[in-house]
Amino acid sequence: MRKKIIVGNWKMFKTNSQAIEFIKTVDSKVKVNKDIIAGIAVPSIMLSDVQKVAKNIVISAQNCYFEKEGAFTGEISVPMLQDLKIKYVVIGHSERRDIFGETDEMINNKAKSLLAANITPILCCGESLETYESGKTIAWVKNQITKGFAGIAEQDAKKIVIAYEPIWAIGTGKVATPQIAQNVCKEIRDIIKGIYNQEVANEILIQYGGSVKPENIKDILDQADIDGALVGGASLIEDSYLGLVNYKG
Ligand code: PGA
Repeated sequence: MRKKIIVGNWKMFKTNSQAIEFIKTVDSKVKVNKDIIAGIAVPSIMLSDVQKVAKNIVISAQNCYFEKEGAFTGEISVPMLQDLKIKYVVIGHSERRDIFGETDEMINNKAKSLLAANITPILCCGESLETYESGKTIAWVKNQITKGFAGIAEQDAKKIVIAYEPIWAIGTGKVATPQIAQNVCKEIRDIIKGIYNQEVANEILIQYGGSVKPENIKDILDQADIDGALVGGASLIEDSYLGLVNYKG
């Protein structure tokens, strides 16, 4: 039985004080459950403070750089995250790829640096509307996954969480139907089986992301190959966040 992992992605929203307030309000209301991991990826400036108040919510980062240290103005390193005991880091979000020009190679290097530090990468993939409409979703995602996992050994590969996020469903209110999301997540599991083997494919966690809300999360997470959700907009409001992570009631 694979666990479910539901992670809010706050993107560039909230101030430090608002974030602390939010965590203080919701943390004790998150139903602790050994089968569900509830996380929030916060802006890096607030990682340290929110980490101190979160007990049930797994505080996660939205990005990192792959070099240990150096002249990389504005970046945060894996050792910095390790020092704060951060356990999950989102890498390769479509906004990082599209707005900040991140390549598959950079994302692969980030995954390797995180795994070496025992931090779980949440590696995002997903296609544009144009790719979706031209029926090339699987080829697109296969390329991203193959390059993202390049040179990563089997025992590390199964620790990675994959987030499938069709760009056309992010922040648009256009959620992929549970069936579409399931089909692509199943294909991703097959791609992993092709690169590694059945065991890795069975163990790896695959999230869906794109307009997930308390109203639709159950139908999405009930799908056989969807093990969680990466949620932007609906994770910013306290009640709504609780509706997501406590979706089982
Ligand atoms: P959304 O964002 O839930 O607001 O669509 C998802 C994401 O970008 O991770």
